Amino acid sequence: MSNKLATILFLSFLFLPLFSCKDDDIPSDNGDLTSIDYAPVGVDLEIPPGYPLFEQPEDNKLSVEGVLLGRQLFYDPILSADETMSCASCHFQEGSFTDNKALSKGIDGIEGKRSSMSLINLAYSLNGLFWDGRVRTLEEQALLPIEDPLELHNNWEDLILKLKSHDEYPSQFRKAFGITNKDQITRELAVKAIAQFERTLISSGNSEFDKVFHRNEGFFSPEADRGFNIFFDKNPDLPDGECFHCHNEPLLTDNTYRNNGLDYAETLEDFEDNGFGDVTGIATDNGKFKVPSLVNWEFTAPYMHDGRFETIDEVLDHYISGGKYSPNKDVNIVRHDDPSDPRTFINDAHKADLLAFLKTFRDTSFINNEAFSNPFE
Ligand code: HEC
Ligand code: HEC
Repeated sequence: MSNKLATILFLSFLFLPLFSCKDDDIPSDNGDLTSIDYAPVGVDLEIPPGYPLFEQPEDNKLSVEGVLLGRQLFYDPILSADETMSCASCHFQEGSFTDNKALSKGIDGIEGKRSSMSLINLAYSLNGLFWDGRVRTLEEQALLPIEDPLELHNNWEDLILKLKSHDEYPSQFRKAFGITNKDQITRELAVKAIAQFERTLISSGNSEFDKVFHRNEGFFSPEADRGFNIFFDKNPDLPDGECFHCHNEPLLTDNTYRNNGLDYAETLEDFEDNGFGDVTGIATDNGKFKVPSLVNWEFTAPYMHDGRFETIDEVLDHYISGGKYSPNKDVNIVRHDDPSDPRTFINDAHKADLLAFLKTFRDTSFINNEAFSNPFE
C-alpha cells in the first residue's frame, strides 16, 4: 500500500465517527468551550510520485480536525439561505468536483455566466483562482459563494449565527482552531476549514498516466503512446500537437491564463467576456482564461469556461482547426488541418491516438476516495 493511500485510509477512518456527541463535547450555556480538548493532529499529505511538494500556508496548516470541519461545511446545505445547496451542489465528487452543467445555477435557479471548475490539485494553484484569476487564495475564494446572489445567496452574519447555535459545530471549531467560546466562530475560521479540505483534494497518483509516466510501471497502449508523442511534441514522425505548452505535466496545467482561440475578436476590445483582462486591466489579457487541469476531463463535461463544448470530440476539432482569430491568440494554438504540412497535420488516426492518450488521465481513485465524499451520507 502506498503511503498516500495509507494517509487517506487513516483520514477516512478518523472521519467515520462524525459528530459523535460525547457529553463533554457539548458547550455550556454561556458558550464556553474550554471543557472540550484542543489537540489538533497535523496532516502531512503524501504527494504522488512526480508531483511537486507544496508548502502549507503558515497561517492555515492542515489538521485532521480542520479538514474534517471543512469537509462538513463544504457538504452542508446550511451554507445557503434556504438550506438547499452547498458547495458540493456545484462541485460534486462524481464530476471530479464540477457540476456537469454548461453554466451553474444557484439557489434562485438563475444561471451564472461561467461553468463550474474541477476542484483538483488546488493546493498547487498558486497563480489565482476562478477562470479569470480574480482571487488569490482558497480562503479568499470560499468567502464568495456564500453571498453570491447567483450561488448560495446567503449572508455571512446569518450563517455565523446558525453555526454558533448549532448542536455540533461549536465543538468542531474548538477542536480545529482552539477557540474558547462559540462567540469566536467567524467567517475567517469557516473559510480556513473549507480551504484545508480543498487542499487535500490531490490526484491519487493511480491514473494510467501517473503509473506509466511518473512511476515507470507498465506501458501505454501503442495508440496512447502515439498520442503521448503528439501531446508532448516528442516524435518527429508524428505531428506536434503543442498541448503540453499549457497542459504540462504533472498537473496537466501550468496555471497560467491564455487565449486558446475560442472566440473571434477583431481587436482586443471585442471579446464578449474579457476574463483575465478584467482582473489585470491589461488589454492583451482580454479573452484569456485559466488553463484547466486535464486530470479526469472524462468526468467534467461540458468543456471550457462557458461549457460551450459538450464532447471531447468537439474540443479536439476546435484545436485541430487552429481556433479563431484574435490579436492575442496564443502562438501555440495553430492549424492542424493542412494535409500538406506533416509537422502539424493531425488526421483522424492521430486524433484517435490523442484521445487514447487523454484517457490515461482518468483518476477513478480520486473520484471514489471516501475521504473526499459527503460525510452526511
Ligand atoms: C452555484 C454553483 C456553485 C456553488 C454553490 C459553488 N461554486 Fe465554486 N465555482 C462555481 C463556478 C461557476 C466557478 C467558476 C466561476 C468563475 O470562474 O467565474 C467556481 C469556481 C470555484 C473555485 C475555483 C477553482 C479554480 O481552479 O480556480 C473554487 C476553489 C470553488 N469554486 C470552490 C467553491 C466552494 C468552497 C464553494 C462553497 C463555499 C463553492 N465553490 C460553491 C460554481 C459554484
Ligand atoms: C495556448 C495554451 C493551450 C494549448 C496549446 C492547449 N490548451 Fe487546452 N486549454 C487551454 C485553455 C486556456 C483552456 C480553457 C479555455 C477557456 O475555457 O476559455 C483549455 C481547455 C482545454 C480543455 C477543456 C477542459 C475543461 O475542463 O473545460 C481540454 C479538454 C483541453 N484544453 C485539451 C487540450 C488538448 C488536447 C490540447 C492539444 C491539442 C490543448 N488543450 C492545447 C489552453 C491550451
